[in-house]
Amino acid sequence: MPPSQAPFLFDAPFRNRYFTGRDEELRALVSLLQNGHHAVISAPPGWGKSWLAAAAMRMLVKDDPAFRCLTADLFAAQEPADFLAHFAGRVLEAASPEPAQRLELARRHLPNASPYLDPEATAELRFDRKRLQQHPDEVLNLPEMLATESGERFLIYVPDFQRFAQLERGSHFERRVRAVWQNHRQASYLFTGSGGPAFVQEFERPSRAFYRFAEVMPLQPLSPESCAAYVSARFKAGGKKISPKIAEKLSSICEGQPRLLQELGFHLWQLTGSKAAGKKELRTALELCFALHGRAFIRMAEGLSITQLNLLKAVAMGEQHLSSLPVMQAYRLGSPASTTKNRRLLMAADFLTGEQSDLRFTDPLFGFWLRMRYFGAGIRELV
Ligand SMILES: Nc1ncnc2c1ncn2[C@@H]1O[C@H](COP(=O)(O)OP(=O)(O)OP(=O)(O)O)[C@@H](O)[C@H]1O
Ligand SMILES: [Mg+2]
Repeated sequence: MPPSQAPFLFDAPFRNRYFTGRDEELRALVSLLQNGHHAVISAPPGWGKSWLAAAAMRMLVKDDPAFRCLTADLFAAQEPADFLAHFAGRVLEAASPEPAQRLELARRHLPNASPYLDPEATAELRFDRKRLQQHPDEVLNLPEMLATESGERFLIYVPDFQRFAQLERGSHFERRVRAVWQNHRQASYLFTGSGGPAFVQEFERPSRAFYRFAEVMPLQPLSPESCAAYVSARFKAGGKKISPKIAEKLSSICEGQPRLLQELGFHLWQLTGSKAAGKKELRTALELCFALHGRAFIRMAEGLSITQLNLLKAVAMGEQHLSSLPVMQAYRLGSPASTTKNRRLLMAADFLTGEQSDLRFTDPLFGFWLRMRYFGAGIRELV
């Protein structure tokens, strides 16, 4: 992670000072949530879902201090009981800073879950997991109960929501959760997730548990103009200079992907001395990025089948008509059916994004790395 005084920040929790763009998305999102709706932000990794969610929570609280915002993540949850215990703990933490008061609230609202304070860690509330699982509705209703009692509102943010379906086989738990949450009036739910069209279908297919539960907001890349302006402003804030041309070049390489913008911006800023950042420094910054990501890129490529890798090579070389005979033969893509299947899988695995006739790499750096590794391209083609 870059040191805190650096003017660029990546792989780090949200900091408003480093946040740019997304004005319209932020306004729309906050308005939905303020009006009691639920929302889901869908975009590939590194496109800024979590930062947008954090910016929205910041704005909600600023506009109305009675909003209690909390994050219930699925990282440590292996089964429904893990999620329920975590969810109850987070909701109670948001409701009160006092462990004793949290216990009192839990005893009153979750009598079946047998809450107690862990004697080893006094601030931690624990529950009887078996009973939690037997009475999920009690926990799932907790934010609505607390909000109704106190006159507050709750915003529950669940990141990486694509993991939710993996909590158990079948969709019984998912359906239970949806059935309870859909009756809430004082609690709004915000999800983020990746996985392309396969993820969005969770909210758009009538057969799915969360069908039409939340408004789907697909996140677009940042605009090139706003990226270039951001890079110039951050250089200034960090006491260094960059020519407008190089700021534009850097932005066009990043294709509006905020994580890459921050990482490349950071390396370029570090490499820049008293003279304005130029082509030479930008090339070196790119070399550094490729060196840092090279091993991960090799692993990503090695995890693919031959025809999947070939399809990515074709897209990396700018081919769009993947089902045309010359492209299929030149890149050995296999049959039309397997090409269609591979395209779908590569989108679900967040390698590619966009429409059928306008496929792009979710990480432009990986696309260019493929061109370098398999087609002899050099960094000078970029800068
Ligand atoms: N609006 C923004 N302005 C400036 N930088 C941003 C913005 N959004 C995201 N970033 C940068 O991109 C990085 C990744 O953003 P974020 O963590 O929100 O992505 P994500 O879509 O949630 O990814 P993942 O799917 O991996 O969780 C952040 O650490 C930050 O450096
Ligand atoms: Mg995230």
